[in-house]
This record gives sequence, structure tokens and C-alpha cells, in this order.
Amino acid sequence: MRSTIFGQFLLNPLNTGALCASSTFLSKEITKHIGIEKAKSIVELGSGTGAVTRHIVDSVHNNTAFFAVELNPDIYNAFKTRFPKVKVYNRCASELPEIVKGEGLGHGVDIIISGLPWASFSDKLQDSLLDAVMQSLRPGGVFTTFAYLQGTILPTGIKFKHRLRKHFSEVHKSRVVWANIPPAFVYRCRK
Ligand SMILES: C[S@@+](CC[C@H](N)C(=O)[O-])C[C@H]1O[C@@H](n2cnc3c(N)ncnc32)[C@H](O)[C@@H]1O
Repeated sequence: MRSTIFGQFLLNPLNTGALCASSTFLSKEITKHIGIEKAKSIVELGSGTGAVTRHIVDSVHNNTAFFAVELNPDIYNAFKTRFPKVKVYNRCASELPEIVKGEGLGHGVDIIISGLPWASFSDKLQDSLLDAVMQSLRPGGVFTTFAYLQGTILPTGIKFKHRLRKHFSEVHKSRVVWANIPPAFVYRCRK
């Protein structure tokens, strides 16, 4: 139970941010139209138990640098068991610039895919995590993340949307993926 998103939601709803992992339909929407097949470097933040990771792994090129960052130790362990070949850091996403440098990618990564529950985060945490994303992404790089439909009427969800518009030169919203619990859409942003 501790190794599932549902189990961790019961223990720590705000940091987990979801009752269950993303559906295949949402995972496909998250990983499409962002150039995964051609990317040289990809990072996944808040990888959870790997619902989206599976689609990333299926699409990436063999020589693409790819790693994940997951804060929750129980979820991190479940991820490692499920994806023994994927490098994953049990760290906070705010530490991404250091991790990226340590990986020899100090010039910035091509794509950052986020599963972080932004609407559950305070203003301060949203700012520090988005700063870490901006520092780690190369100019012209792509940042993608999803938002639950109900989160868009929360003040934190509205502020997150404004932050994206402030930081990125392009922000695109996908269609709503109804086949997900709860329904969600994807933001695709270019630095
Ligand atoms: C909504 S779940 C998404 C999991 C998975 N990406 C999916 O779509 O099914 C959010 C995940 O982000 C992780 N997380 C929350 N805050 C984090 C942080 N500051 N740094 C890294 N991971 C974090 C949680 O532990 C959880 O596994």
C-alpha cells in the first residue's frame, strides 16, 4: 500500500497530489507533441510509480540522457523496482540545477516533463520549483506538465497558470483528457 500513489495520498495528500497514477490516455497526451523522439536529454519530475515514465521509455532514443526525480522514498523504491534501468534521484525537484550539472548537462536539458502536483503547492514552493526548472532547461527547451480540471478554479491553480505565462515564451493548453481520474489537461511550454 505504501508503494502506491493511493496509499501515499492517504498519508500525505498535498505532496502526492493525486488519488491514483495518470491513466494511459493522459500519459500519452503528456508525452506527445514535445519532440521526445529527437531529444538528447529529458528529465521527469515527480515520476511517481512510473505511469508516464513507461511512455517516455518507449519513445526515447537509445542515446538520450534520461533520468527522473522523485521525492517520496516509498514511491522512489517502487519506481526503482519497476524500472531498474532508469536512473532516478530520491531528491526534491528544487535541487534539479545541481543534479543536471552533476549529470554533465550544465548547458541545459531539452525537455522537462513534470508530474508535480502544482495546485497543491504554496506560492513559495511553486516559485522555487519553477526557478529550478528555468535554470535547468536550455533556451528553446520544452516544459510540460498536467493539471486536474478542478484545480484550475483553485487560487493556487490560477496562480500557477499566470506563472507559466510569465516564465515561458509560449504556453499551450491541450484538450481535456476525460479518461483520467480526475479529468486533466496538459500545459506545453517553450522557454
Ligand atoms: C500526482 S503524482 C504523479 C505521479 C506520476 N507522474 C503520474 O502521473 O502518475 C505527484 C508525484 O510528485 C512527487 N513529488 C511531490 N513533490 C515533489 C518534489 N518537490 N520533488 C520531487 N517529487 C515530488 C510525489 O511524491 C508524487 O509521486
